[in-house]
Amino acid sequence: MSDKPKVFVTREIPAAGLEKVIAACDADVWPEHLPPSRDILLQRIAGCEGVLSLLTEKVDAEFMDAAGTQLKVISNFAVGFNNVDIDEATRRGIRVGNTPDVLTDATADMAFALLISASRRIVESQDYIRAGKWRTWEPLGHIGVDLIERTVGIVGMGRIGFAMAKRCHGGFGMKVLYHDKYRNEKAEQELGARQVDIDTLLKESDFVSVHTDLNETTKGMFNAAAFSKMKNTAVFINSARGPIHNQRDLHDALKNGEIFAAGLDVTDPEPIPMHDPLLTLRNCVIAPHIASATVSSRNGMAEIAADNLIAGLKGEPLRCWVNRE
Ligand code: GLV
Repeated sequence: MSDKPKVFVTREIPAAGLEKVIAACDADVWPEHLPPSRDILLQRIAGCEGVLSLLTEKVDAEFMDAAGTQLKVISNFAVGFNNVDIDEATRRGIRVGNTPDVLTDATADMAFALLISASRRIVESQDYIRAGKWRTWEPLGHIGVDLIERTVGIVGMGRIGFAMAKRCHGGFGMKVLYHDKYRNEKAEQELGARQVDIDTLLKESDFVSVHTDLNETTKGMFNAAAFSKMKNTAVFINSARGPIHNQRDLHDALKNGEIFAAGLDVTDPEPIPMHDPLLTLRNCVIAPHIASATVSSRNGMAEIAADNLIAGLKGEPLRCWVNRE
């Protein structure tokens, strides 16, 4: 029997982190493409001192009970941690880590890629070609919306919101509005951003991009009422978490022309079911939650997640510690 601490790693992650975990721990690494079922997860976590989890795993009281009282650390391989019951972990003295910063630029790049794809109808145009419909150059065809000097509304002006605003302002001269419970003086000074109430943001923005975390306040905040306040030329971008938009309401707003287009890196649920009516709309660009999928982001996430796990096992401060207080 190994004298190293027993941990469960719920999926293979890049070697930059996995090798550290394997060297320091008695690691059980889930080898499959799909996540373990709930039953298997609860079995495999039993007796572990640490877990390296993904956003696909629900880490709640039941999970912590199944692990046992020796569980010291939950290292989540994501910046978001809505899949982890932080209050419950804190009550039990379990440290929780996440992987911020290393994915900020990659995520903002993805949000901007979705913005330009949805605005300029890129995916729809490709489908048009592949369907054999491209017969000639069309003066009235494929008309999208302009980007230059328009207004972007950032919902959640944290690290990623700021990085998105910087791309919009610096590259395209956009005016920046933002909605957040905190003031972001850096965004105000460097980008001329203006903090506004949500209704003003919805009413005045040409592009609305979501960068907030998922919590009880933001869940379903983009619903029929919100979409009806947006311009009918507006483009909605969500690269944060799917449940922040109401998917049925988004479908209806896109179909009825209440907004022009949407670009999503996240859906509710994930994966999006093949029968979801959103998949029938040409004005909705959807990616399978890939914003952090670049070499340096994923390597950086793997390293931080490994460091968080190992520090937590030793009772040391985590590099990125969610429940430090
Ligand atoms: C991905 O969505 C993350 O939170 O890192």
